[in-house]
Amino acid sequence: DEIEAVAAAICDAETTVAMSGAGVSTASGIPDFRGDDGLWERHDPMDFHIDRFRADPAGFWEDRVDLQAAIFEDESIGPNGAHDALADLEAAGQLDTLITQNIDGLHQEAGSENVVEIHGSAARVACRDCGRRFDADPVIERARDGELPPTCKECGGTLKPDTVLFGEQLPDHALMQSQSAAQDADLFLAVGSSLTVEPAASLPLVANERGATLVLANLESTPASGYADFDFRADVTDVLPRIRDRLVA
Ligand code: OAD
Ligand code: ZN
Repeated sequence: DEIEAVAAAICDAETTVAMSGAGVSTASGIPDFRGDDGLWERHDPMDFHIDRFRADPAGFWEDRVDLQAAIFEDESIGPNGAHDALADLEAAGQLDTLITQNIDGLHQEAGSENVVEIHGSAARVACRDCGRRFDADPVIERARDGELPPTCKECGGTLKPDTVLFGEQLPDHALMQSQSAAQDADLFLAVGSSLTVEPAASLPLVANERGATLVLANLESTPASGYADFDFRADVTDVLPRIRDRLVA
C-alpha cells in the first residue's frame, strides 16, 4: 500500500527532510490558522502583523500573556503521536532535518533534535534594539505583573516575542538552513501545513525541482498537491505513526 511505499522511499533516501505546520499540533489542542476552527475564524490576521506590534506593543503583550495561560501553561497540552513519530524517525536515523513553522516547541518536547524553527519560538523573546534574546518565561511574568511592554534589561529597548509576525523577515540563519535542507533532500515530507505562507510554502517545490520525492500529509489539498508523489488527505496522527511503525522496530 501507499504507507508501505512511502516507508520504502524513506528507507532508500539518503537524506529525508520533513516540514511541519500547525496541523501537526491541532491534536494537542493548539488551533491551526486556516483549518476548520482555525485562528482566523476568531482573530484578525492583522493582530499578528508587525504593524500592530509597533502601534500597540502593550496590547500585543496583553494578548501574549493570555496565550500563555491558554496554551503554554496548560499541563494537558503536550506532543501527540505525530510529534512522537517524527522524533522516532530521527532517532532511528530515518529523518535528517525537521523544519517547522510552529512556534510551540512540541517537536523538541517529543525529542526531535535537529529542528529548524523558521517562524521562531514562543520560548524566547528578542530585544527590538540590541537584538539580544532571552527566555520568554520570566519576561511573560513581568508582563503579567504589569510591565507592558516589557523592556530589555541590557539596553532598555522594547522586547518582542521571538516569533515571526506578518510583515517581518524570517530569521536569516533558519531560512538558509531550511533552504539548504530542502535542496539536499532526496525525500521531502510536508505535514499538517496548508502550504500557503511564503517562503515556507516554496520549500517542498524547491526539493521537488531538485528531484526529491514529495510526500504530503494534510487534511486538505494544498497548492503542492499537484506535484506530490504521495498525497495523503489524512490526519497526521494516523499517517505518521503508521509510516514510523514500518521503519522503526
Ligand atoms: P494552516 O492553518 O495554514 O494549515 C494547517 C493545515 O493543517 C490545514 O490545511 C488543516 O486542514 C490541516 N490540519 C489540521 N489538523 C490536521 C491533522 N490533525 N492532520 C492533518 N492535517 C491537519 O497552518 P500552517 O500551514 O502552519 O505563520 O500556517 C503557516 C503559517 O501561517 C504559520 O506558521 C503562521 C501563519 O501565519 C506565522 O505566524 C509567521
Ligand atoms: Zn536590548
